[in-house]
Amino acid sequence: MHYIRLLRPAKFDASDRRRPIISLLITITTDLGDSFLYPDEPVELIVGADDAAGQSVILKTDHPYRWTAGMRVLDVKLPVKSHLRKDDVTCTIKIHPARQSRPLGVLRSDHVLPWRVASDSPASKGLIMPATVEIIKGVCSPISVRTLQLNTGSQPEDQLNLDLEEDIGESIARHIWDAGIVIASFLADSWHSSESIRKILPIEEDTFSILELGSGVGILGITLARIVERAAAVQGCTLSEAAILLTDLPEAEERARSNISIAETAVSCIHPSSSAVTLRYEDLDWDEGKHGRFGPLASARPWDLVVLSDCTYNVDSLPALVGTLSALHAANLKYPDFDKGPGTSVILATKPRHSSEQALFQLLKTDEWQYTVLESIRLPKLGEEDEQVDIYLLKKGR
Ligand SMILES: C[S@@+](CC[C@H](N)C(=O)[O-])C[C@H]1O[C@@H](n2cnc3c(N)ncnc32)[C@H](O)[C@@H]1O
Repeated sequence: MHYIRLLRPAKFDASDRRRPIISLLITITTDLGDSFLYPDEPVELIVGADDAAGQSVILKTDHPYRWTAGMRVLDVKLPVKSHLRKDDVTCTIKIHPARQSRPLGVLRSDHVLPWRVASDSPASKGLIMPATVEIIKGVCSPISVRTLQLNTGSQPEDQLNLDLEEDIGESIARHIWDAGIVIASFLADSWHSSESIRKILPIEEDTFSILELGSGVGILGITLARIVERAAAVQGCTLSEAAILLTDLPEAEERARSNISIAETAVSCIHPSSSAVTLRYEDLDWDEGKHGRFGPLASARPWDLVVLSDCTYNVDSLPALVGTLSALHAANLKYPDFDKGPGTSVILATKPRHSSEQALFQLLKTDEWQYTVLESIRLPKLGEEDEQVDIYLLKKGR
């Protein structure tokens, strides 16, 4: 998958007072930022800039914004309506591939899953994640928003928009990654059948606790928070408590907490005060976790499920990561009756990037984790060979 990114916050420029512009410096890269989109055919982009009332603040232009093979950056100058001064320009800018389905700024989760995509649709060739940024009184914040529409069924109320803030500019922890998008889409697709959701999210009691490692901006944990109650209901359970804890290094904290607040607002709009879900964040460094040193929230309960996406690409950190999984299992075993249950389950999503990542499986075997592939999902990539996201179920008993 490719991502539309801003290389710096959008700028309002009124140096020519008769022709003010908003200037955007755009690139289109992979999640890792290691290659630029190199399409076989030019990709046209739609750029919208609407105020809160839905009125465009920019003039229509005749020339399309186009990304072609070999480009590294696209300098977009949006002509602002000439009567508007800097203080008047409060708007939402959405940058969207013209051939991808609307609404602008939104990626549909069903378009991420090959079995939901027609073979002649643009999505079957590879997707580009749109970007949204806000300008307030002519000033753009250093944050962009990704919107993934979770399509959990065929009715309009089954479409949940997941808005996730990420940083403009380079960062590992503060933007979303392919495996996170794919597993979020897979979960959204699974929950409406009790058989398929039971495979990935089996809920048999009225409480359920999920801990996420390396949560980044929170795409996986927040998706789970949005669907866990319905997933339980499909399996005949009503949750009285569903605790979801996102964890990562301190650099991820600000963005993760901000995304938790956005998700809580979205959930409280749908179920005012009746939700059983608590969604929280705590720092958890695997170099501490492997020694069983956890913060107060991670230590507070046993975890029915541990989840992680796109956390296995750095081979150097694999021993600490597997050590943390094993330490979480050991902490689970200290709770009375835990050993009578099925043990600790882990859902791990990964987009294999190089063969050295196979070291993960040896480490898992050494620590007596059993693993099976739940699903391998093809991820087409425009102008390049397909990639794949593998979703594993890891289990450890006593
Ligand atoms: C590629 S990002 C994936 C983020 C997110 N899971 C997603 O799918 O969008 C990897 C994440 O692992 C976290 N991470 C790396 N080393 C870590 C460590 N030693 N302890 C805790 N988290 C770590 C990074 O901060 C980052 O957020």
